[in-house]
Amino acid sequence: MNQFIKKYYDALITPSGGGGAVTVLSPATVANIVCGFDILGFALNEPNDEFTISFSDEKGVTIINDDEYNLPLDSEKNVSGAALLALLDETPDIKGFQLISKKNIKPGSGIGSSAASAAGAVVAANYLLENRFSKEDLVRFAMFGEKVASGVKHADNIAPAIYGGVTLIRSIFPLDIVSIDAPELHVTVVHPQIEVRTADARQILKQRVLLKDAIKQWGNIAGLVAGFLKHDYDLIGRSLEDVIIEPVRSILIPGFDEIKKKCKEAGALGGGISGSGPSIFMLSQNAVAAKVIEAVMKEVYNNMGLAYHTHVTTLNQQGVKLISA
Ligand code: HSE
Repeated sequence: MNQFIKKYYDALITPSGGGGAVTVLSPATVANIVCGFDILGFALNEPNDEFTISFSDEKGVTIINDDEYNLPLDSEKNVSGAALLALLDETPDIKGFQLISKKNIKPGSGIGSSAASAAGAVVAANYLLENRFSKEDLVRFAMFGEKVASGVKHADNIAPAIYGGVTLIRSIFPLDIVSIDAPELHVTVVHPQIEVRTADARQILKQRVLLKDAIKQWGNIAGLVAGFLKHDYDLIGRSLEDVIIEPVRSILIPGFDEIKKKCKEAGALGGGISGSGPSIFMLSQNAVAAKVIEAVMKEVYNNMGLAYHTHVTTLNQQGVKLISA
């Protein structure tokens, strides 16, 4: 940690600095879960961003970056900042916040980096405010952050980041979020080191859908939700099919078809593009299978000579986690 950043942490944990700092871990998330574009998502236990927040005497949101990403310091252009400004609009008694942002989830990776920033910031602020707001309110604030990131308010990363587990966003206007019970699931993610901007990955989508494709997709979404609720792994696997978004977006991801085919042959239940990509995720029934899938993913990208990162993890049932207050 550099001396500049250390000064801020020290000020927060010493009484002379005002005390009252809250630190949270905010999880990566997988949006869409293949067939549920913009309406389904789940949270991961790894990786996480870390946010430390305190009240500030300065108006608005002061952002301090404690990582390598050089994200905007202007709060209106910063995902965490925009979410906190939305929250401040409804807290006239609070002047401002200071937020130290330590990101581990690489922006543009497709595992909900912007949602982790927005959700982590508002959940941390809510702890400072002694839980003044409901989870649904926090999703509403955090969506302002997503708008900064992708130009559109969507909640399929934010809702699982805040609620934990698998969430269904039945509607965003008005918000209607449903937590879906799910069996134990192991998740393998590979992140090829290319960047796909969510805004671009949305731009290329077709605006019209054939009825026959819509019917297939409805069957898969209903099957996936039923599979989660019934803890039916076969049904989950059969339902991880996307006939609308994946055919268009997968061309942006090198090796996508090969990875998907080989992972399924190696025993994955199924999977696909994580959010808008470029990360690819696969679900497995146990930890051993998830490690085998990681090896398969690595082999494909090693053979292609493409750099990548992998994560082997599980479903996070808790969402943003308080680590100190
Ligand atoms: N549902 C969004 C999309 C998620 O696929 O564009 C972005 O992470």
